[in-house]
Amino acid sequence: MHVIVGVGGGIAAYKVCSVIRHFTEAGHDVRVMPTRSALNFVGAATFEALSGNPVTTEVFDDVDEVAHVALGRQADLVVIAPATADLMARAAAGRADDLLTASLLTARCPVMFVPAMHTEMWEHPATVANVATLRAHGSTVLTPASGRLTGADTGAGRLPEPTEIGLLGDLLLTRPDALPYDLSGVRVLISAGGTREALDPVRYLGNHSSGKQGYALARVAAQRGATVTLVSGAVSEPGAPAALDIVHVDSAVELSSEMNARAADSDVIIMAAAVADFRPVGVAGAKIKKGAEGPAPIALTTNPDILAGLVRSRTAAQIPSSTVIVGFAAETGDADGGVLDHGRAKLRRKGCDVLVVNAVGDGRAFGTADNSGWLLRADGTETGLPYGSKTLMASRILDEVAALVPDR
Ligand code: CTP
Repeated sequence: MHVIVGVGGGIAAYKVCSVIRHFTEAGHDVRVMPTRSALNFVGAATFEALSGNPVTTEVFDDVDEVAHVALGRQADLVVIAPATADLMARAAAGRADDLLTASLLTARCPVMFVPAMHTEMWEHPATVANVATLRAHGSTVLTPASGRLTGADTGAGRLPEPTEIGLLGDLLLTRPDALPYDLSGVRVLISAGGTREALDPVRYLGNHSSGKQGYALARVAAQRGATVTLVSGAVSEPGAPAALDIVHVDSAVELSSEMNARAADSDVIIMAAAVADFRPVGVAGAKIKKGAEGPAPIALTTNPDILAGLVRSRTAAQIPSSTVIVGFAAETGDADGGVLDHGRAKLRRKGCDVLVVNAVGDGRAFGTADNSGWLLRADGTETGLPYGSKTLMASRILDEVAALVPDR
């Protein structure tokens, strides 16, 4: 596919080299369009070497090819990173004073702006208005991360990590309408990853959850405008998604208390974590030694069922009745029934509004980037989720959530 990477004149331009690589390694034809000021940060030769294509900033180079029309029209995705305040102002106004902005006017594919600037510039009413205009034009404008900016500053305005830009770009290539800004004002609480149940100061009982699905949900919900809190157990997912709060936990009991503490202030609760059903009865204060008599049996006790507990709290009016509660079920199927039979039984048992069922085993679901499954609703209706990335799954699950959240 054809991807245009537009580069604005900001210090974060150097990070975009990894984004260009991401798309070329996926086999896409990448055209890099820097603004004139971007070339103060990274030279054209770098962009040409990484993309394998010529790089120019001007409409008046290669006039015979009418590059801005040809490249804009054939693009399947435009990613603009870093999207500076000036570049977004020009794009919002429909200016066409360089090859990138001219190409934006001819492109009919998804356009994703990835802003990076100082917090004051991001929060300035002029930038806020330009972002709203770009969204109204149908473009995606990512919410930047908070954190260390150039120099000693910290605040909102950091470029999201290149891996995250790549994942969201891939999502728009597979599903052009996957990132509508439709969850603004919705508070979403998501659990992700696996719990660790301590045996002693150095050992624990854990599981293979990578956290990928929960992180993908958090990432997509935040970029659809939701206020997201992610309560994360152990994960192998690198890098935190931009634009959300993360709370780290270890055990099921800690996860339970963090989820319950936040439940009443959430419009949507998604339990994507792989919670240990059992924990050791006691945690040894010192490292357990091998000893001469061989291993001692580990006595286990049952952990709280967090999802079922949240549904009970809703029934008891401790959290608003309008709260949408989503659960997950990873099933293998067995002598008692197939994956879907177990999923249906679990939906009834847990009492949530939506249950996302994945088939696991044989290397499926855990730790993989791709997945398939079903969405089972409390009203008995069911939808298949076709095979695709966990980011794509997240976008489909959040479509369901968006339809269930009461009008705001
Ligand atoms: N879950 C939970 N608390 C637990 C166990 C699971 O909140 N103690 C949640 C998971 O986050 C998931 C859903 O319940 O959203 C289903 O998890 P799963 O492990 O498949 O279900 P179990 O209740 O453990 O059922 P079973 O062991 O019978 O498959």
